Amino acid sequence: MRLSAFLLNVSTKIEFYSRFSPSPLSIKQFLEFGRDNACEKTSYMFLRKELPVRLANTMREVNLLPDKLLSQPSVRLVQKWYMQSFLELLEYENRSPDNPHALNDFLEVLIEIRNRHNDVVPTMAQGVIEYKEKFGFDPFVSSNIQYFLDRFYTNRISFRMLINQHTLLFGNDTNPAHPKHIGSIDPACNVADVVNDAYEMAKMLCEQYYPTAPALKITEFNAKAPDKPIQAVYVPSHLFHMLFELFKNSMRATVEHNEDNKDDLPPIKAKVTLGKEDLSIKISDRGGGVPLRKIDRLFNYTYSTAPTPSLNSKRVPLAGFGHGLPISRLYARYFQGDLQLYSMEGVGTDAVIYLKALSSESFERLPVFNKSAWRHYQGGPGADDWSNPSKEPRDTSKYKAKR
Ligand SMILES: Nc1ncnc2c1ncn2[C@@H]1O[C@H](COP(=O)(O)OP(=O)(O)OP(=O)(O)O)[C@@H](O)[C@H]1O
Ligand SMILES: [Mg+2]
Repeated sequence: MRLSAFLLNVSTKIEFYSRFSPSPLSIKQFLEFGRDNACEKTSYMFLRKELPVRLANTMREVNLLPDKLLSQPSVRLVQKWYMQSFLELLEYENRSPDNPHALNDFLEVLIEIRNRHNDVVPTMAQGVIEYKEKFGFDPFVSSNIQYFLDRFYTNRISFRMLINQHTLLFGNDTNPAHPKHIGSIDPACNVADVVNDAYEMAKMLCEQYYPTAPALKITEFNAKAPDKPIQAVYVPSHLFHMLFELFKNSMRATVEHNEDNKDDLPPIKAKVTLGKEDLSIKISDRGGGVPLRKIDRLFNYTYSTAPTPSLNSKRVPLAGFGHGLPISRLYARYFQGDLQLYSMEGVGTDAVIYLKALSSESFERLPVFNKSAWRHYQGGPGADDWSNPSKEPRDTSKYKAKR
């Protein structure tokens, strides 16, 4: 096939698959499928359509980014990875699962795709930094990039979730340390244990940067079954990711805010609670807090108060990419939860992770490429519809009533 005909064919395929909306699954569905009727052929039939649908939805949206951003080498590289993975998946479009090699080949391709996409986040972040350095950000571009990255990274989390379930259930990479896990899901995940693990990992990192780290105090309140430890049906690696990021932030703030009192740092407190609807985890620090005016900004992908770490450095950074909070919030929201910050300037910050208590309510929250998403990228910034404080104190003398 000539190159132009090939390209036309591919873009028709992307267009075709992007017309379908992704099919969100709940943790309960993931679990039941893996536990009771794990059938590799059924999973194959589902994924060979669902994965191209999710890829095509996000690929169409990438194309709506500003041309100058799309032309950055890192962004082009990411696009190339997506195109290659999309093409590899199309090979299975019409391949019967009864073909003797289809299932095995598919499994191998999924592993290759997962590895290819390992570095999507730092590479995309690099592209955004390159763009910002060359052209600067106006508020409209900035809000579009924020909107886009939230959706793009959520899509990636979901894509990896589907691939991991398939490869862990049907491949050879089952984890012997966790025989009770169903793929990447722990049906009885002890939340306090994950809190502890994430704390220990962050503590190790913190002690490499400062000679010290704050202690941890955990409390639990199980309103559903008092005296029983709180368990979640959840993906422990997602929970670990969120908690690790929150602990790193709290530790950095605590150590920096208490510089004169390094031997007696105020501890970080973690509170795990379970109600009928929510499982919540609060991480509280005495790290000096953040003024309310800046709270929203902390969730921007390019906002950090730490120096940007070198991508080539062998040392794992404690902070600096500005991705910790926004990506953790995406993990929480992915299964219908949330992550919120409450801060009291001068004192400290509470970060709360909310998860759904019931696995039947933990449905994937997925971006859909449609008219209203498209509209989001069009037009310019609207005029502000709330008053702004004027820069100068107004001269009110001219309004004085005549006596
Ligand atoms: N608990 C906290 N107390 C005070 N400031 C905080 C706290 N958590 C976050 N921040 C502020 O928010 C900024 C953004 O946090 P975020 O975790 O997103 O990025 P980062 O820590 O700078 O880099 P990284 O991507 O490595 O996590 C931090 O640089 C810090 O200024
Ligand atoms: Mg951080």
